[in-house]
Amino acid sequence: MITKKEINQAITTAIQTLREDLPIFKGKFKPAASKDNYYAPAENDDWTNGFHTGQYWLAWELTREDAFKEAALAHVESFRQRIIDRVVVDHHDMGFLYTLSCVAAWRLVGCETGRTTALMAADNLISRFHKKGGFIQAWGAYGAEDNHRLIIDCLMNLPLLYWATTETSDPKYAEVADIHTATSLQNLIREDHSTYHTYYFDINTGAPLKGVTAQGYKDSSPWARGQAWGIYGLALSYLYTKDPKCIDLFYKVTDFFLNRLPSDMVAYWDLDFTDGNNEPKDSSAAVIAACGMLEMAKHLPKDKADHYTLVATQITHSIAQNYIPNPGESNGLLLHGVYAKASPYNTVSNSGVDECVIWGDYFWLELLTRLSKDWKIYW
Ligand code: GLY
Repeated sequence: MITKKEINQAITTAIQTLREDLPIFKGKFKPAASKDNYYAPAENDDWTNGFHTGQYWLAWELTREDAFKEAALAHVESFRQRIIDRVVVDHHDMGFLYTLSCVAAWRLVGCETGRTTALMAADNLISRFHKKGGFIQAWGAYGAEDNHRLIIDCLMNLPLLYWATTETSDPKYAEVADIHTATSLQNLIREDHSTYHTYYFDINTGAPLKGVTAQGYKDSSPWARGQAWGIYGLALSYLYTKDPKCIDLFYKVTDFFLNRLPSDMVAYWDLDFTDGNNEPKDSSAAVIAACGMLEMAKHLPKDKADHYTLVATQITHSIAQNYIPNPGESNGLLLHGVYAKASPYNTVSNSGVDECVIWGDYFWLELLTRLSKDWKIYW
């Protein structure tokens, strides 16, 4: 189990990296993945940029250093311009982008630009909802025949909609989120409680068609990060819906993930791979899952809460021991992530394999923050 001292040490290391980065990334963003463990400055034009801003907000909460707040607020301006100019926003990742940047700005420092910008993003997200089928289309132009599908990652984008309903008192956002959640849980979770990455629907009738992978090893395998998005997604679904079904599914989806972990508790990039093979690990899946367990633990009976909290702290210990960079090794916070790895059966090419990935860095810092203080969630 991780000790308080280890947590504080890991936070100090992460904050020092972020502090050193501030002048290098002024007006820029860290991209989705590092190259040889170093991120180069990039524009605000990917689905991942919010994870950089989210790190600045966490760093500000942990240190109260003005420089982190100023950097985060500069990002908020960039996100406002991005949604106005519609730069790469024809997809569902409005939550990853706008919750961690703009909702956080509103929640933490009452930034009005953050609030109005996040509401624009929420409008954009519900514009991708298909009434027939009851889901938010993940990728591609709205209505595109080859992309009539939802993906498990989207559970993480729905808190933006619940927030928008609370802010505006307009139920339409939460209604879309509720329907999308029900459709996701009904179709994405297999009988053994592993999960599909994506699920297609008939474009004419909306009837569920089939589960297909994009980033997992194959259609029938459990992509590790998808399973982790499912774990945290179920915790957030429960937070906003209070539907007991989410708790039951959380146990099952989480236990499937835990039963497939190798001895150091950090998943391979697909849960089909276990101890004794040469596939890369995806440390980002480990920290996403651990954050989800800590969030859900707040709502569980004591014995279950203690169990999942213990597991989360064991994962944290393993990461702190072997997955964070030594000085001079990286400008990321977490090593050994996988963005996408090609297989004979999936649809991606190699990208960010055994690298830092920006969401891995974010969730590592969120995990440490959760373990160091009574953290109020941005999601
Ligand atoms: N949401 C895309 C990914 O996890 O790679």
